[in-house]
Amino acid sequence: MIAEPSADEKPVILSASQIAHGFGKQGLRTEVLRGATLELRRGEVVALFGVSGSGKSTMLAILSGLMMPDRGTVQVLGQDLFSLSNRHRDDLRRKEYGFVFQANNLISWLSARQQLEMLLQWGIGFRLRRATMISNEILGKLGLADRANLLPSQLSGGEQQRVAIARALVKRPSLLFADEPTSSLDWHNGQKVMDLLRQIAREDGTSVLLSTHDQRVREMSDRCLYLNGGVVQSEERR
Ligand SMILES: Nc1ncnc2c1ncn2[C@@H]1O[C@H](COP(=O)(O)OP(=O)(O)O)[C@@H](O)[C@H]1O
Ligand SMILES: [Mg+2]
Repeated sequence: MIAEPSADEKPVILSASQIAHGFGKQGLRTEVLRGATLELRRGEVVALFGVSGSGKSTMLAILSGLMMPDRGTVQVLGQDLFSLSNRHRDDLRRKEYGFVFQANNLISWLSARQQLEMLLQWGIGFRLRRATMISNEILGKLGLADRANLLPSQLSGGEQQRVAIARALVKRPSLLFADEPTSSLDWHNGQKVMDLLRQIAREDGTSVLLSTHDQRVREMSDRCLYLNGGVVQSEERR
């Protein structure tokens, strides 16, 4: 039997070096990030901890190329994110990143299946039949087959968050970023969401970075990072 490669042997998908960023002008300026460095390898689930206001969302916005840092570099799949033209950076984000937010932004008048179909039809250009087939497959994989026809208001918080994850996975991203995905969920639903993120990382090789202040997530991720005072401290666990 061939042994699973250890985390250190898996290729680095994203690497951020010495990220610094602040908001506001002169006297009112706050330096949120002060040289934050981190690496994300293929197929690992990494939790980024930090108290509220420590800069987790800012860091995710920078790592995904949505916000240009004052200083520092981000390499994604061998490309220097902030050396790319705006168009190429947008393309890279569209192709390689999936996003899940705390407020899951589901569209209230679309069923679970339609949330996915819409992306496949209008985003990728698939015909409805193919879009329906793929949507059903993803919803099934995420344990939502019997929820496909329900509207967000008819789903539990955990189910809504799983639909949001399904939607992020439609284009099979290399990277999945989740900003506090469990914070509005009870323990049972939070655990289901974490199980799902781990399953996606294991089966599809997706690298998952989630920001959180939920201590329950510690045991359920491969690696924990701490954002504190604008820098990232790591804790090797496995
Ligand atoms: N667009 C912005 N303009 C001004 N200040 C901001 C902006 N975005 C974030 N901040 C500030 O940066 C700090 C970090 O915010 P954030 O990254 O949202 O932290 P977290 O996600 O860890 O709660 C906070 O003090 C916040 O008020
Ligand atoms: Mg935040």
